[in-house]
Amino acid sequence: MTSAPSPPEPLPGARLLFSLDPAIAYLNHGSAGAVPVPVQRVQQRLRDEVDANPQRFYTRGLYERIAHARRHIAGFFGADPDGTALVANTTVGIAVVLHSLGLGTGDEVVTTDHRYGTVDYAVDGTGATRRTIPIPLDAPTGKIVAAVRDAVTPGRTRLVVVDLVASSTARLFPVAEIAQALRGTGIPLLVDGAHAPGSIALDVDALGADFFVGNVHKWGFAPRGTAILTVPPAWRNRIRPLVRSWADPDGYPANVEYGGTLDYTPWLAAPTGLFTLRTLGPERVRAHNVALARYGQHVLATALGVDPDTLPDPGGPVPMRLIPLPGNGFADPTAAVTAAVALRDRIADELRTEVAVNPWHGRLLLRVSAQVYNRPEEYERLAQRLPALLR
Ligand SMILES: Cc1ncc(COP(=O)(O)O)c(C=O)c1O
Repeated sequence: MTSAPSPPEPLPGARLLFSLDPAIAYLNHGSAGAVPVPVQRVQQRLRDEVDANPQRFYTRGLYERIAHARRHIAGFFGADPDGTALVANTTVGIAVVLHSLGLGTGDEVVTTDHRYGTVDYAVDGTGATRRTIPIPLDAPTGKIVAAVRDAVTPGRTRLVVVDLVASSTARLFPVAEIAQALRGTGIPLLVDGAHAPGSIALDVDALGADFFVGNVHKWGFAPRGTAILTVPPAWRNRIRPLVRSWADPDGYPANVEYGGTLDYTPWLAAPTGLFTLRTLGPERVRAHNVALARYGQHVLATALGVDPDTLPDPGGPVPMRLIPLPGNGFADPTAAVTAAVALRDRIADELRTEVAVNPWHGRLLLRVSAQVYNRPEEYERLAQRLPALLR
């Protein structure tokens, strides 16, 4: 068994940027993010501005302010600003793509068994059939790419949806290679990058995918309700918004962004999140988080009797890591979901620690995240107390 990797040095002052409850070890940045205090403050000032004169906020200069935020955010993540729209979250962005493709009976959408659960509902809602490719946790890049390529059928497959960083398995997928393999087939690739902006070195355009959707409110320090959708030039005038409002004649991206009297303050405050990330140093933040997640995984696995050398390779540097929990196998998927939720809530209530517990093929996968506010002791404390809770 290899010895524990060293935990990283903390980034000075970074913990003070957050308002998380100090009584809780928050080891689940991945699920809903956490908004730095300066970003919360800017958003509150924007809300104050709205409430001081709502008519002025909504009718004078709002489109331009949204466009400014959009350009800033797109540029930060290497996405073409002219092809990028701000949307409320990844769920909405995926829905826009599916709606615009006009999918229906007889069409097929190919996904993998690492996809986010709501993608199934979204695809089913279109009438298309779903083909879900099994990808083993430790599958190498070549096998993943070949599995996707072999699963598609030109003429029948209308879309491939692959995660960049999967939620249930924290696996980094080789989406650039998948995009390359699909080139020339006429089958577009939609990358579900919900976890990608801010968590990994991301250059959206360099992925070469057709569509990309990613949350800025997870690892990009934006207020919740901030995500990007990117669309290639050939598709921009075929994008059909889910809701048609006053920007409808303007076409993409404004027609997707503007939905009437909504709360646009998350988008306008989002550049402050990116400013915060830039001030800390995006590479330093990523290196810290990846090293701490790896450390946390190692101490937890060891405490639970799982040989760290047998843990699945995440496919690259990601700030979330898995520990497959020993001793459970559920034949009934509903029972696995119930057990996962119950365990997650017990860990929160009894051990004062927030983690994700994801059911995957009848097994429960403990997923820990690492962010600049986390410390090695938080994982160590969980490792000391979790075995007793699981017994
Ligand atoms: C891979 C993946 N896709 C989609 C989503 C949905 O994100 P949201 O709830 O922000 O729409 C998530 C959320 O965690 C996710 O992890």
